[in-house]
Amino acid sequence: MTEPIDLLCGWPNPALLPAPELRHSATTVLSDPSIANPALLYGPDEGYEPLRIHIAAWLNTFYQPCEPISFQRICITGGASQNLACLLQVFTDPVYTRNVWMVAPTYYLAARIMDDAGFAGRLRGVPEDDEGIDLDFLERELRAAEEDALQSGNTEPKLKPPRPWRKIYKHVIYAVPTFANPSGMIMSLRRREALVRLARRYDALIVTDDVYDFLQWSIVPADVNLFEWAKKPEAHLSDRAYVPRLVDVDRYLDGGPVDEWGHAISNGSFSKLIGPGARTGWAEASEKVAYGLSQTGSSRSGGAPSHLCAAMIDQLFPTEILQKHICDVLQPQYALRYDRLLSAIKEHLVPLGVTIPAPTAAAGGYFIWITLPAPVRASDVVERAQTEEQLRIAAGDLFQIPGDSKAGSFSDHLRLCFAWEELRHLEEGVRRLARVLERIVL
Ligand SMILES: Cc1ncc(COP(=O)(O)O)c(C=O)c1O
Repeated sequence: MTEPIDLLCGWPNPALLPAPELRHSATTVLSDPSIANPALLYGPDEGYEPLRIHIAAWLNTFYQPCEPISFQRICITGGASQNLACLLQVFTDPVYTRNVWMVAPTYYLAARIMDDAGFAGRLRGVPEDDEGIDLDFLERELRAAEEDALQSGNTEPKLKPPRPWRKIYKHVIYAVPTFANPSGMIMSLRRREALVRLARRYDALIVTDDVYDFLQWSIVPADVNLFEWAKKPEAHLSDRAYVPRLVDVDRYLDGGPVDEWGHAISNGSFSKLIGPGARTGWAEASEKVAYGLSQTGSSRSGGAPSHLCAAMIDQLFPTEILQKHICDVLQPQYALRYDRLLSAIKEHLVPLGVTIPAPTAAAGGYFIWITLPAPVRASDVVERAQTEEQLRIAAGDLFQIPGDSKAGSFSDHLRLCFAWEELRHLEEGVRRLARVLERIVL
């Protein structure tokens, strides 16, 4: 029987999970009452303070922001998904907040979280080009939404009374600007700057899932002089971010944030760096927004989520175990997997008319997003791949904005994940996909 191959699952391969390192941390935490007792009790609303301090220092090294990140800008979360739900609870009003704008294609599970927060039917897709989000489109739509709001008298929050710890934004803009899921795209710096200006003008909160930023590696361009290349910053992507986050841009652009709240929040996560079962992450934003987030009702009642796990993860920082795991294990292993999958795509799928994204100086994340030749439909390929070849892949349709096809349809795209399946099966997965395509196109 053919062994199944899974290029759909967006999880880390179990061989990449740092279980022994975590076992050591857990033992340290639980055998020392001065750490164990506070870690096993309710924690502070903002999260385990030693971890907030360590994360701030680590992000300073990686992102090199214009001013150091204070630990008061960091709030410990239950991961990017849980925190998206919390920040919508605190900073939006389901009536006053007009729309959630999502870069399309989008990480589809985020849409459900928006739905829970009262935005069903008001999720709006924004297309992207080679540099990222299409700002002309977004500005046109934001202007129209503002006119509608004025005409209908929607000028004050309706369901959320004023509270000192929160501000209700008029719009939310959701993006995965670096190594996006599913497209793998990187939004350019100048597009990031223009997006922050737009968010300030229309009072939008930009929420970014920056969950893949640390999983980056450089792509040596063809025909390059290696000596010259080695002098460029993009040749050294192990411990410096390729591009600043939107939250970093909001801090320096045009003299800095327009008020003490700012217009961007970064959702970080240990899911892709340690393991999704840890359910632990962090948010970074202005000190006002980070504090406001910690005042979510569920954190006021129970303290920040994932408190015990946060204490265990904290143990990985002083000895730089996490930093080494990222540089010495994750980055090289994912780079290898990415190369293996991309080479197989070039060899077996490109001759059949499949196209791949244009090369950039850096690659990263978990996914490669490919376009099928017309008139092949991704949903047909996915179904036949499963039944004829025991191959799981994701059809582009999955990443469309629910209820809004204006930003484009992705029914000719497939997302292939190189993170989960065994390395030795990646090429075979692509061969199987090529066989399915051959049967359809030839
Ligand atoms: C863009 C994006 N955001 C969020 C998540 C989920 O993150 P977490 O496990 O921290 O909730 C994923 C996981 O695939 C993702 O790709």
